[in-house]
Amino acid sequence: MCGIIGYIGKQKAAAIILEGLKRLEYRGYDSAGIALLQDGHFEVAKKAGRVEGLIKGTGAQKLAGTTGIGHTRWATHGGVTDANAHPHISSDGRIALIHNGVIENYAHIKKFLLTKGFTFKSETDTEALCNLIAYHYQKEPAAPDSSRFLESVRKTLRHIEGTYGIAVLCTDCPAEIVAARKGSPLILGVGDGEYMLASDVSAIISRTQNVVYLKDGEIVHMTAKNFSITTLGAEDVSPVVDTITWKIEDSELNGYAHFMEKEIFEQPAALENTMRGRFSEDGSTAQFGGLNVSAVDLRQVDRFHFLACGSAWHACLVAEHLIERFARVPVEVDYASEFRYRNMPLGNGTLFFTVSQSGETIDTLAALREAKRKGYKVLAIANVVGSTIAREADGGVYQHVGPEIGVASTKAFTSQLLVGAMLALYLGRMRDMSFSDGVEYVKALKGAPDLVRQALEAAPQIKAIAQRYAHYHDFLFLGRLALFPVALEGALKLKEISYIHAEGYPAAEMKHGPIALISEQCPSVFFVPSGEMFNKVVSSMQEIKARKGKIIAIATASCDLPAGLADEVIRIPECHEAVLPIVATVPVQLLSYYIAEELKRDVDKPRNLAKSVTVE
Ligand code: AGP
Repeated sequence: MCGIIGYIGKQKAAAIILEGLKRLEYRGYDSAGIALLQDGHFEVAKKAGRVEGLIKGTGAQKLAGTTGIGHTRWATHGGVTDANAHPHISSDGRIALIHNGVIENYAHIKKFLLTKGFTFKSETDTEALCNLIAYHYQKEPAAPDSSRFLESVRKTLRHIEGTYGIAVLCTDCPAEIVAARKGSPLILGVGDGEYMLASDVSAIISRTQNVVYLKDGEIVHMTAKNFSITTLGAEDVSPVVDTITWKIEDSELNGYAHFMEKEIFEQPAALENTMRGRFSEDGSTAQFGGLNVSAVDLRQVDRFHFLACGSAWHACLVAEHLIERFARVPVEVDYASEFRYRNMPLGNGTLFFTVSQSGETIDTLAALREAKRKGYKVLAIANVVGSTIAREADGGVYQHVGPEIGVASTKAFTSQLLVGAMLALYLGRMRDMSFSDGVEYVKALKGAPDLVRQALEAAPQIKAIAQRYAHYHDFLFLGRLALFPVALEGALKLKEISYIHAEGYPAAEMKHGPIALISEQCPSVFFVPSGEMFNKVVSSMQEIKARKGKIIAIATASCDLPAGLADEVIRIPECHEAVLPIVATVPVQLLSYYIAEELKRDVDKPRNLAKSVTVE
């Protein structure tokens, strides 16, 4: 999950590339580097650590040149060292390369190149790719009608197994960049007399809103005057230029301490954007413009199968509850990475959904492709417009919550919960849900943003609780039914940004083992809804209390908790069961955020993580 960027135009490239790298750093931040073409040679600055460190430690911003590439790394092959940082330069000094992905046959390539006199300075798979391009460039005859540089890249990529998003420079071609993608995202920015490349839009949106989403197997050849796209087989591709609708300030902090904090507090607006224009005229059901599956065909579906990773997988578990509850259709949920190899028996009436904020998660993309290989329709719920998963799906739902920069998913997660609730309504009203129940359900969904606003009002109380509980090393998160996946999400949030061990369980399951963990040193976070589960959850809380376990209760307003049972009580508003998972998520997002802040963690760029996992 690295970030790559390239620039060719009239401006000094260094500042543009470094600014873009800062916006890509959430994709990976183990090291950073840039390479510029200047008078037939490369000016290179690269260093382990953050972009800021590259600037302060190498003076990268002073490098001259109007053609260049930049990279921010999430280490796959080779440790976090200066030598392993990208860009890599071929041992003959002619080729500079940056890469996002994994070259699976790099060892074989490296062995071959060593016999051809190439040398290596790093432990990375990328350097093998760089030297292989140089090898083909040496062998490629200079041909007047086509670029020797472009053809050497094309020839090289035909030998590559694995995934790549690359940008390449050649010392003999001072005003050219060649780039290509297979399995890793790459976008071409079409500016005013300049062209850019980036892993995602946030890196270039300050300079252009006109972009071309490159597809797997495509190669782009850029000069200062124009660009062309061809396939690995050298067929021409007619580019489609899209216009990005969101603005640069959507990807800026705007006064918040962290993007995660901003995105937590953006959730009311984000939910409104997700719902906008998606309820029927009569107000009794949801409607989706891009599903590309007719109501008649949807009625024939006898099973829905959701595929996702991480928080998106938790959102699928909530959707499972709601679709089975309101549409009475069986739902299966699989980790995308597991589905690919499970080879499970599947019926003919199954419709697949993939859920992915980034739309680039390689496990989810691979699962989508596996389901399509089996002949199934696959729809996508995604946030990033034009992302690979969104484009390869047969249809789907965009979340429209704007860029989510914080590595820990927040507004995208609750938006996914909302889309799942809207799907349950849509499918339910196709089956047994009555008009009046549909109207009530729609009203509840429309009220969700205000209920989230109310839940956010507990932020100061939650911050105080976080400061009291930040020193614990283990937490249990416990919820039942549709709140069990929210317990999983709360545990994930805490783990990934505070580095504290946390586990989510169905509340009743806790006594089948995890209760052994309970002591005064292992607090439990309980979701306590009013209604049929209230007494059952209170019993589980009693079991914890009897063993001196501290309890943080997230309880709906009307719950009458026994005095002294919970050490902390965070109230959330009563609401429709389809909205409760959304509202209940807010306190655990805030709890994990404030604990991480108390521990002075790098909240937006937690260690070992990256925003979009584009390597398997
Ligand atoms: C969520 O907080 C994590 N950052 C991670 O689990 C994420 O949800 C997962 O990698 C899936 O990402 P996607 O939604 O972009 O596919």
